[in-house]
Amino acid sequence: MVKIAPSILAADFSRLGDEVNSVTSADYLHFDVMDGVFVPNISFGYPVLEAVRKTTDMVLDVHLMITSPARYCARFARSGADIIVFHVEAETPELTRSSIDHIHDLGKKAGLSVKPDTPAQALLPYIGELDIVLVMTVEPGFGGQGFISAMLPKITELRQIIDGRQLNCELEVDGGINPETAKLCIMAGANVLVAGSDIFNERDRAARIAALRV
Ligand code: DX5
Ligand code: ZN
Repeated sequence: MVKIAPSILAADFSRLGDEVNSVTSADYLHFDVMDGVFVPNISFGYPVLEAVRKTTDMVLDVHLMITSPARYCARFARSGADIIVFHVEAETPELTRSSIDHIHDLGKKAGLSVKPDTPAQALLPYIGELDIVLVMTVEPGFGGQGFISAMLPKITELRQIIDGRQLNCELEVDGGINPETAKLCIMAGANVLVAGSDIFNERDRAARIAALRV
């Protein structure tokens, strides 16, 4: 079954606890960390993650869009992340590998993400160690952008690699997901769908989450 991960980037931060509680029928809660350097926008960091951790038992899927993620992985793990995904473009190969091990040593799941211009091959040296790979279907940095359909072959390619090697690795997509693009991503092989504005712009969040699953 496909998993849905609402992105709280699109939530009303003045009522964050209520917003989190409105999406508990989903599978993961997606938490977008932006540093204004790796992406041209700044969102929130570990103090907010700690606050969210106190309000929910949902699986917290933390997406680090930051430079030098190796420096901060442990801090996000201690602040309540269950899954820590960072960008393959943001770190050296050595620190990428050691960070994946470090995240696992802390008892958390580790993932790597690729921007739209980064090929799937960039993930291959690490994919055997990963719990999740995240294909960006918009340029990271902002919610509410249009889905880049040219990313569908990358999703298919990764699904073939994961299945071909019989890896226990989830395949997540992020950006511009709505019921129409969700279908395309599922057909291409994604099994975790991040959606921000599509869910939080609707009054009935549970109904929208259900609509994304089909
Ligand atoms: C973008 C973030 C996404 C964002 C998705 O850089 O990584 O998680 O919240 O927002 P929507 O679903 O509105 O495209
Ligand atoms: Zn994200």
